Parts: sequence; C-alpha cells; structure tokens
Amino acid sequence: MSWNRKHLLDIESLSPGEIVTVLDTAKAFKAVGERAIKKVPALRGKTVVNLFIEPSTRTRISFELAAMRLTADVINFSAEASSLKKGETLKDTARNLEAMNADVIIIRHSAAGAPHFLARFLGASVVNAGDGAHEHPTQALLDTFTIREKKGRIEGLKVTILGDILYSRVARSNIWALTKLGARVTLCGPPTLVPQVFKELGCEVTWDVNEAIRDADVINLLRIQHERQRRTTFPSLGEYTSLFGLNRARMAQAKDDVMIMHPGPINRGVEIDSEIADCGRSVILEQVTNGLAVRMAVLFLINGGKGPQEVGN
Ligand code: CP
Repeated sequence: MSWNRKHLLDIESLSPGEIVTVLDTAKAFKAVGERAIKKVPALRGKTVVNLFIEPSTRTRISFELAAMRLTADVINFSAEASSLKKGETLKDTARNLEAMNADVIIIRHSAAGAPHFLARFLGASVVNAGDGAHEHPTQALLDTFTIREKKGRIEGLKVTILGDILYSRVARSNIWALTKLGARVTLCGPPTLVPQVFKELGCEVTWDVNEAIRDADVINLLRIQHERQRRTTFPSLGEYTSLFGLNRARMAQAKDDVMIMHPGPINRGVEIDSEIADCGRSVILEQVTNGLAVRMAVLFLINGGKGPQEVGN
C-alpha cells in the first residue's frame, strides 16, 4: 500500500497496511545502511529540526543520523539553551523554526498531544518523538520491525509487555501496532501500573509475572517512569524488582527462544538483571540499530515517498 501522510503523529490512526509500508520501507533502508556508501539523496535540500523539549539519547541521535543519511540539513534544538527559557511559547518557537524554512519538525514533549497541536498550524511535516504518556510511534515501529525480522511474523505471536504500562507511551504505541498486526499482547506489572482498563485496547492484563512470561514469544520490558508518576504506585523499588524484575530464575520459566526487548534507557538491577540484558536472547542493541532504518523510512515517507519500491538501488 502506498503512503500518503504528511505527518507521523501516532500509531492509533495508522492502518495495518500503513504500518507494513513503514516496515517494508525500513527494510529497504536497512539494506542501504549495509552498503559501503550509506547515504542517499532523498532529502537533499530539506531541513529537519529535532525539537526535543525532554531528554533523549536514542531517539534524538537516531533521527539526526537518519536525516543525515538522507542528505538533509539537521538542526538540533536545545531547550535548555533556547528562548523557551525566556517565556516563549511552543507555538511561537515552532513558527519561528518554520520561518527559517524547516521542512520537518520532530518533537518530543512532556505534554500528550503536543505534536498534534503543532500539526494543526504548521506547514512543515511533524513527527512525534514521544508525547507525555501518550505515544512514541517510531519506538513501536522499530520494535515491531525487530520482532518481524527476528521471528519472521507478527501475527499470532504472544508479546508480553512487563513494567510501568500506565505511564508508558512506548506501551501504548506498541499495543496499537502489535494488535493491528495480529499479535496477542499481554500486559503485566503491579495493579497500580497495569489497570484492567487496558483490556479495552484488546490486550490481556495479568498481575502474575509467571503467567505473563510463560508461553511468551517476546518479553518487552519497561522501566519505571518516575518523571511522569504523580503518586507512589508501589512500596519500594526493591519490592518491585523482587516481584516483577526479569532475572535468571524467571527466565528459566520462559520459552527457549523467547526474545528480550527494552526500549531503553535500562535501569539495570531494577526491571532487568544485567545478565539478562546482555544475554544472547536480548535484542536491545539491535532495536537501536533498527531504529535508524525505521526513522529513515519515516522521514522518507512523510516527505513524499510512497513505499519501499522507491528506495534507490
Ligand atoms: N527509547 C527511547 O525513547 O530512548 P530515549 O529516551 O533515549 O530517546
């Protein structure tokens, strides 16, 4: 199916066909990244702005590198050194960036809906790089890409997402992407962080970690998002780790070919033991590698690319 969107704001509004188009385009760009010359001219003359108002390592650098590989000019906006500190609004900041001919604005913001807000008045394309606890679409796309690459399919797989679901934009975007492509998604964590209401999104909910791990083809771990929690949701980190942390004993109950994922940043010794994060079943760094191809695909498609057939040979 051919892509026709100017923005990437969320996964919820994408069709399964559109998700597959991004994945297939990313596969073509991954092949480009394995060549001696990794750059293509798809975005030559375009300006991409990384407007990150929240911290990031993987997403910001990955978008920067993706834009460079597509031969775009890239501006990295630093909120701490900007006129936001002098009281300028997000709207005025974005309009000033557009006045300097920005073609794409990639935004990360603590407020859910910030990218949708910008897309209402900007002529530039807008990409959501994480908005509050709402969505993180490129993370879900790279997670889905990694699962499909490793397991050969999405449909019918049991994917367990274990951790702080309530405050996680990664969880929400993954739930949309995986259920649209036919996976069985199980959510697990403390009841305060995994309310039953998530069943309405087509997931199973369990507070029993053994049940969640058993039969899982994929376990995607999430850290506790302290920066978004407004109240205490469990007694202590130590208790969380003993009840829900992924360690050797729990891994022993999982399938032999279970795949371990984590969007990062990892809190070693809390949601995941170091020996599990670094074991042969972990694809955590491969997720990061795939993020580059997925973000190249997203930038290519929102700039008028139609699909993988247009990725140059
Ligand atoms: N996974 C993720 O969004 O990581 P960063 O916060 O480092 O971008």
